[in-house]
Amino acid sequence: MQTHRHEVIIVGAGGAGLMAALYASRNTDTAVISKLYPTRSHTGAAQGGISAALGNHEEDNPDWHVYDTVKGSDYLADQDAVEILCREAIDVVLELEHMGLPFDRTPDGRIAQRRFGGHTSNFGEKPVRRACHAADRTGHMILQTLYQQCIKNDVNFYDEFHVVDLIMNGDRPAGIVAIELGTGEMHIFQAKSILFATGGWGKVWQISSNAYTLTGDGNAILLRKGLPAQDMEFYQFHPTGIFRLGILITEGVRGEGGVLLNDKGERFMERYAPTIKDLASRDVVSRAIYLEVQEGRGINGKGYVHLDITPETVNHYLQKEGEKRRIDREYIETKLPDILDFCRTYLGVDPVHEPMPVQPTAHYAMGGIPTNAETEILANAAGDIVPGLYAAGECACVSVHGANRLGTNSLNDLVVFGRRGGLRAAEYAKDADWVPLPDDPAGEIRAALEGIRNANGSTRPIELRERMMTIMSRDVGVFRTEEGMSRALEEIRELQETFRTDLTIDDTGHIFNFDLLEAWETGNLLDLAEVTAASALARRESRGAHSREDFPERDDENFLTHTLATVDVNGKISLDYKPVVITKHQPKERVY
Ligand code: FUM
Repeated sequence: MQTHRHEVIIVGAGGAGLMAALYASRNTDTAVISKLYPTRSHTGAAQGGISAALGNHEEDNPDWHVYDTVKGSDYLADQDAVEILCREAIDVVLELEHMGLPFDRTPDGRIAQRRFGGHTSNFGEKPVRRACHAADRTGHMILQTLYQQCIKNDVNFYDEFHVVDLIMNGDRPAGIVAIELGTGEMHIFQAKSILFATGGWGKVWQISSNAYTLTGDGNAILLRKGLPAQDMEFYQFHPTGIFRLGILITEGVRGEGGVLLNDKGERFMERYAPTIKDLASRDVVSRAIYLEVQEGRGINGKGYVHLDITPETVNHYLQKEGEKRRIDREYIETKLPDILDFCRTYLGVDPVHEPMPVQPTAHYAMGGIPTNAETEILANAAGDIVPGLYAAGECACVSVHGANRLGTNSLNDLVVFGRRGGLRAAEYAKDADWVPLPDDPAGEIRAALEGIRNANGSTRPIELRERMMTIMSRDVGVFRTEEGMSRALEEIRELQETFRTDLTIDDTGHIFNFDLLEAWETGNLLDLAEVTAASALARRESRGAHSREDFPERDDENFLTHTLATVDVNGKISLDYKPVVITKHQPKERVY
């Protein structure tokens, strides 16, 4: 077993991890450990844009961005953190531009911006162009740009090293344990500061825009260390995933003028959100699609609707709304090349000629590891921090997204809080002493992994995953009830028991043993599914992405609070609550 030492360790190489590494590496010895090659991280799948109130096409203002974000969050976001997000987004987007990110351009050479759901001017008056984009490959470009900068800055990369445990010495973090995929060897990494940037866990659900690797490893590791998970009940369903496949079709399609149509050819969002229609926030649009389908207006009575970006349809609606702008095929090919490619490749559907079949797809975790605005991980509802431990990006909950994230507010979250995290982690590491490694620091996780490797039950991890995905999609999806979530919780717990007592895997070797690690990831997903269902069951109201048929109203009197779930050594979940930070915007009814 090899031992390594770096002052700052970043776990995960997506946008947040790379931005943190870039900043930390300016004055500390920094390493990034990732189960993937960095440029394969899921930030690369983010399509439509990164929001910043640059005002390059029309007047914009960070105060409007703050308002939209808070309203979109259904008033659950912490408003002090939202202020940071929206103000620092401007600076960070310009910084990315200076690093060489190839943004699309306006005719006069400034960063091009498009409309996106929930982003408005003048406090909700009309949609505004705030999403800075590089065609529909914005996340991909961010990832490439940051990776190049990290290489230039001599960041140490441990690619294809799967982090499986956090080493604690008492209540102090001392390092992490990782498996080198190519050899199966276990490595110990000692560090003064450790920042988790491990992304989301969309693979809990059946239809998801998330890659196969999005299994919430960092969140599950920290839960097992007794640290809380915040607001897990709020999981976003993006309205437009490719039917049955879940692959993301960017909201940028609607930002460019695309419309959602039901089986009758009706632009149904006019009924659900009369002011901004198809550009309402994602929770609103996903519910609308679900209801259209439920009421028999899915296309051919099936579980999907149409997303139409053909010039004929878009120009019809632009004209109807009195807009001068018109689009043509060449414009669509330039602005949305990747989604055209996906539809042509996977569906044989050409979106410049015909509409795309779409359905809501599990997309993004609003909840996660609780942190303050410096990305320091919080140990409890009182806000005590764990010195030397940080989280940023989708795995973290600052909380800037509250109950529902606005599209394009994830990429700025990654880079704004990745930067803050890198700076804070480096600052801490400069003054801190090394925490000694305990005896046999990998003992516990080695025993757990050997237990899986040698398990002689009869259930394969994929069977557990498929059952979990079915349960969670059925009962803890877009709409929820007490009965459904109670059933889900019970069934997930049965799967956890099967995982413990009746597992089997085929590959007992060491080299690239994905069978073993996918089994371990399955355990992570099950733990996160359980905490999600338990947190959701206890929230007896509807807010943002958490929509209960039995409690359809938002209840600010009892639930204007963040949920903190912890799991004790016996696996028992406890829930605690802490107040939401409200500065300027008092909760009111959300009307779009
Ligand atoms: O629709 C999209 O392009 C996704 C963006 C996001 O999740 O922020």
